[in-house]
Parts: sequence; C-alpha cells; structure tokens
Amino acid sequence: MNQSSAPASADPFPLAEARTRYQEWTRRLRSEGLLPVEFLLPRLEVPCSRDLPAMMASGARIASPGDQVLRQRIRELGPWGYGIQLRPGLCTAPHAVALERMIYRSHLIAATVRSLLGEAFAQARCVDFACNHGYFSLELAYQGMREAAGFDLRAENVAKARFLKDYFGIANARFEQRDIYDLDPGDKYDVVLNLGVLYHITDPYKLMELSYKLCTRFAVVDSIMHKEPVSAFLQMVNKDTSSHAEGKFNVELHPTYRAVIDLMYAVGFKQVIEVVRAPLGEGRDCPHELYDRLDRRCLIGFKEPVDLPGLRPAAEAPPVSARRAAPAASARGMANLWRRLRGR
Ligand SMILES: C[S@@+](CC[C@H](N)C(=O)[O-])C[C@H]1O[C@@H](n2cnc3c(N)ncnc32)[C@H](O)[C@@H]1O
Repeated sequence: MNQSSAPASADPFPLAEARTRYQEWTRRLRSEGLLPVEFLLPRLEVPCSRDLPAMMASGARIASPGDQVLRQRIRELGPWGYGIQLRPGLCTAPHAVALERMIYRSHLIAATVRSLLGEAFAQARCVDFACNHGYFSLELAYQGMREAAGFDLRAENVAKARFLKDYFGIANARFEQRDIYDLDPGDKYDVVLNLGVLYHITDPYKLMELSYKLCTRFAVVDSIMHKEPVSAFLQMVNKDTSSHAEGKFNVELHPTYRAVIDLMYAVGFKQVIEVVRAPLGEGRDCPHELYDRLDRRCLIGFKEPVDLPGLRPAAEAPPVSARRAAPAASARGMANLWRRLRGR
C-alpha cells in the first residue's frame, strides 16, 4: 500500500451523505425535465384565505390565564414547530410563518372536511392519526363535529394537544398516546385524518389499509409526495427519532404522488380526488412553500363514489408557475442523464 495516499473509505456510500446524494439526483432529474408536476386526479378547489380559523379567532375572547403564565406553559411543553395562536400576539411557535402555514392547512383541510360532510357534520366523528398538537381535531370539534379522537406516539405531543383542548375549552375532542398501528381496525369513524404521517412510517400499505377500514365516509391523506413519475417509495435514512415530529424509526419511506394514488385505490377507496387552493396557479401568493411547489399534497379517498359539484377534471391541468414547473422531459434528456450518471 502506498503510505502517502489517504486510506480508502470503508463505505463508498456513507449513510450520512444519503440525503445529499438524493438531492443531487433530483437536481439532475429536475434540470432534465424528469420531475414534472403531474395532475392525475379530479381536483376540488377550495378558498384558503389568511383569516384566522374559528378556534384560533375565539382566543381573543379568552382572558385567563394571563400572558406570562401562558408563555411559561408554552415553553414547558415545547418545542412546538406548529403555530397555533392562543390570543392575539401569543402563539405556540415564535415565527409568523408557522402560524401562516397552520392557517393555510386549516382552510385546506379542516374547512374541506366540514363542507364535504355538510349536514352530517354535527353528528360526525373523526379519528386523527398521529395528531401531534391535535390542531385539526380541535378545530373540527370546536366547529361542532360530534367527536374528534387524536392519537400520537409521543406523550409530549399528547400533552400539547390536551393543553390546547383545555385552553380553548373543547370537551368533544380527546387525545391519547398510542401507536396508530395498534388502533383496532374494527373501530369506526366517519372520517380519518391521515395527515403528515405517511412519510414518517415504514409500512405504508398497513397505514393506508387502516385509513380505509376505520372510515365510513372518507379519509384525508396529506403528505409529502415526491414527483418522480413512477409509483414508488423512496427510502430516507438518518432520521432523528428524538424529534417530536418524526416517526418511530430512523428510516422512513416517502411516497411519490403516483404511489399514494395507487395505494389508495389498492386498499379499496372507490374515488380519489385532490384538494388544492383556489385558484391554483401563476403568481398567487401561497404561505406554505411545500404545497406551493406541490411537494406536499392533499388527497381524499371516498369509500363510495360521490357527486361533487365543481370538481375539475384531471385533464384540465392548472397553470404551474415557472418556479414549480420542470422543463418538458425528452427521451434524449433521459438517455443523457443515464449516461452521465453511469459514467460517474
Ligand atoms: C409531522 S407530524 C404531523 C402532525 C399532524 N398530523 C399534522 O399533520 O400537522 C408527525 C407526527 O406523527 C407522529 N407519529 C409518527 N409515527 C407514529 C405512529 N406510528 N403512531 C402514532 N403517531 C406517530 C409523530 O409523533 C408526530 O407527532
């Protein structure tokens, strides 16, 4: 061995660099036009204003405890990562953007659940998988849903949800520390909220099957969805399981957009649609960049086909801003890419 040369690394693909390798791969794919934004489902377009949703707006009328006490409690329960306004000027997360994102998601998801249920809303029950802070359960319960049940892996998250429940005085929401894979598939709820968790787990089929089994009407699936135009799961490693927002394992499987659609039909949903803000398209100011780039999307699977007025057909693709669009893919682009990657 040549003593002067640096010792060869034992592992040519160090785990620590997995994310960088994937980012490099997607950067190349994007530059070759191989990560197009696809619209393969009928779309429901819903207004997503910046107005405070009902529960957070009600905080302005809650006088006690005083700000000092609340701030102390928020600190003790943190870190939060999600912005929920308790009263004007007092929020669970310090950055305005966290609150703007929560408001956006609330209009996109909670308001849509309410309007889809229509007159059945007041009698409906929902289960909130991996609820963390419990916001979606709380907002729906506050608006008058009969019951919302949230489950999360971590006691620290359930404590946050219970704190908000007490603060806003919401009796018809309950929270429990539980692995969602341990929920009884025989339990029945009108709606399943499968939000922000599909990309934190390692058994996507079982989770989607559970979503199907537990709901009697529909399941909302809100997730990171990668753009690779194939039905696949991408393995992400090195996850920090000490973080309150992560999954149980340091490995997780991230779905592509096509994988989520295929999986939802595979477990039995009869109709799958996408929910987007109205209007989606060029030059609109969206406070949540993941949805804006369509890296994160919200789909709804119905147990029975429904007739939804105003549903836009999949073929009518919305305009996509230059920031989000990938240049058109070409066969030559693909061949060049493979040649370059193989030659490395
Ligand atoms: C990114 S947060 C999503 C929180 C919330 N559903 C939302 O969409 O804002 C992911 C949550 O999933 C929870 N989680 C991950 N795996 C879980 C499991 N197997 N059972 C229950 N909760 C889980 C984590 O504790 C964390 O609170």
